[in-house]
Formats: sequence, C-alpha cells, structure tokens
Amino acid sequence: MSATMIPNPAADDRAGLAWPADDSTLVLGIETSCDETAAALVMGGHDVVSNVVSTQEDLHAEFGGVVPEVASRAHLAALNPVISRAVVEGGVDEDRIDAVACTVGPGLVGALLVGVSAAKSLALAYDVPFVGVNHMEAHLYAASLEDPTLEFPLVVLLVSGGHTMLVEMQDHGRYRLLGQTIDDAAGEAFDKVARFLDLGYPGGPAIDRVAMNGDPDAIPFPRAMKDAGLDFSFSGLKTAVMNYVRKHPDVGDVDVAASFQMAVVDVLVHKARIAAKQVSATGIVLGGGVAANSLLREELLAACGRDGIQGFLPSREMCTDNAAMIAAAGWHRLRSDGPTGLDAGAVPNLKLPWLDA
Ligand code: KG4
Ligand code: ZN
Repeated sequence: MSATMIPNPAADDRAGLAWPADDSTLVLGIETSCDETAAALVMGGHDVVSNVVSTQEDLHAEFGGVVPEVASRAHLAALNPVISRAVVEGGVDEDRIDAVACTVGPGLVGALLVGVSAAKSLALAYDVPFVGVNHMEAHLYAASLEDPTLEFPLVVLLVSGGHTMLVEMQDHGRYRLLGQTIDDAAGEAFDKVARFLDLGYPGGPAIDRVAMNGDPDAIPFPRAMKDAGLDFSFSGLKTAVMNYVRKHPDVGDVDVAASFQMAVVDVLVHKARIAAKQVSATGIVLGGGVAANSLLREELLAACGRDGIQGFLPSREMCTDNAAMIAAAGWHRLRSDGPTGLDAGAVPNLKLPWLDA
C-alpha cells in the first residue's frame, strides 16, 4: 500500500529561494529572546518606520536577574499590543507588510517561542514570507541601520549580557570570529559586580551612573589576558572586586565602580584596536547592551580618532535589544537566503555562520 502524502501546512514552498527584497520592502520585526518585548517596521533594510520596545526590567528587578518563566509569560501578555502599536505608529495598513522577521535564537527557549509562534502565525495570515533571524547577527546590523554608508571590512565589538566578541564583518552575511570571552560576558560582569555592591538591576546602567562620581584610577584592578590575543576573560575581575571590597570595607562604592568599569573598558578598547589593525578595518562599530556604556563610548571614539579610522556608536536604543535590528537583519537574510520554512523552531544556542578563521 502506498503512503498517503498529507500536505504540511507549516512548510513554506518559497523557503530557501532568494527573495527580491528592495528599497520598498517593508519588514515587520519581532524580538522576544530575553526580557524586552519588541516590534518594529523597517523599510528597505534601513529605514525605521516604527520601533516599539516594552521592557520587563521592573518585573525581574526584585530577583536581581531575568527569570525565564516570568519572561515568557510577560512576552505573552505584551506581544500583541506591542505589535499593534508598531503597526499603528508606522501609519501603514497591515496588508502593506511584505515579510515577518523574528529572532529564532540565541536566547531563552520559552521567551523565543512566544515570538516565533506569533511571527509564523502572522506570516501565514498575511501570506508573506517568515524570516528567522539570529539575534547576534541583528546586533551586527544595528550600526548600519543608523549609518547605511558604513564600509566593509568593519570590526564589531559586540558586548551584551550573554556575549562578548570581536567580529570581522567582511560583507553582509560574511562574518569571522576574531575573539570572544572564555568565561563571563562583559555585561554579566557589570551585572554581578553591581549586585555585589547593591547598586540595583540591571547592573550596567547602575555602574555607569555611579562611576561618574568616582576615580577610575583609584584601584588597579587586573586586566586579564590584555596582551594575550583577542579573547577576553572577565570572571577574575569580578572576583578581584569582591576580594578588594572584603579587604577594604571602607572603600567608597563610587571608586570601586569607576575602577572596575575602567578595567573592563581598557581591555575592550585595547583589543578592538588590535583587531581593527589586524584586518585593516575601515572602522570599529559597537553593538550589544554594554555598548550603551558612557566610558566605553568615549574611549572607543578617542582611540579610533588616534588610529585614523571611523568609530561608530549606535544610539543607546539601538544598542540594547530592539526589533528594528531584527527587521533589518531579516531584510538582508530574505534577500540572500529567501524565506525560512514555517517548520523552523526556536534554537536557544543558535550560532552565527562563521567564516573559517
Ligand atoms: O544586548 P542586551 O540588551 O541583552 C542581551 O544580553 O542580549 O544587553 C544587556 C546587558 C546587561 O548586562 C546590562 O547590564 C548591560 O547590557 N548594559 C550596560 C549598560 N546598559 C546596559 N552595561 C554597561 N553600561 C551601560 N550603560
Ligand atoms: Zn541582545
């Protein structure tokens, strides 16, 4: 007896076929990988038509970190209103949307699933392509969203709560990993030190604020692996801060915060400069939540000025998680790889497609 073929409504027969995305292609981006529920409309891969972010910061603050189950439930409650607002603020009719792009990983699985299910349903309802986006690739696109004239090759210093990496961006979709953290991410170090100093959550902005009144040279915290290649290590620095404060209980928080921040920024900028020289980059671009850090922004621009290359700092809204960067990356992926099949799922540990080193 021959097998009966049941059509799979979840498969998209346009999947994998390059799509003629152009300057008028309007992409709805959706982001729910961690603790921001976001939706945005972006035209032509760079023109931000609307950009709505609803943060869950207050919900997680009492726990001192993101609680996955709380995050998923909050995404579920916030996503539909956030998408509606993005459409209304964009002033467009829903049938003007040409594709729906959504973060499929990396991130928290439950949180990702909320966005992925919504995005696939909308794509099916609008009968437009669904595009699965890698969250880290989207962070790489945040800078070019604000300055489409950026020229390759670029070095991107991607510093978030979960990642710290130096990436050579040779072209759209062509990335080489130059270095990454071997333990804690820079943002994780900010969050842990802030929690230890009782400065509140999230830790990065709290340390940034407090450090403004402190002396960055007060305490010579270690600069781990500063002259050992392009990888990073921040877990020893966090321990050094704890040990120092225990031994010197009278030291002021402002000086500890300022000296810790200086130690992190010193290593990040030093390695980004070496990376840029190594690959003859036209400039260095910042991305990820830690890229909102005032000292990092100041020091990186000054270093690029000294080296005669471009330093590009996306706005703070574009550094932290948002859906405009998802829509932009989705537009590029749609053009190069076509729609993603509707049978695609969330991939919590999704990697970037690196070129060989
Ligand atoms: O990229 P992001 O919004 O989320 C992911 O981790 O994907 O990054 C969040 C991280 C947190 O660790 C937060 O403390 C840090 O970025 N951050 C900062 C600042 N603003 C956010 N770190 C240092 N200085 C800041 N101003
Ligand atoms: Zn992020």
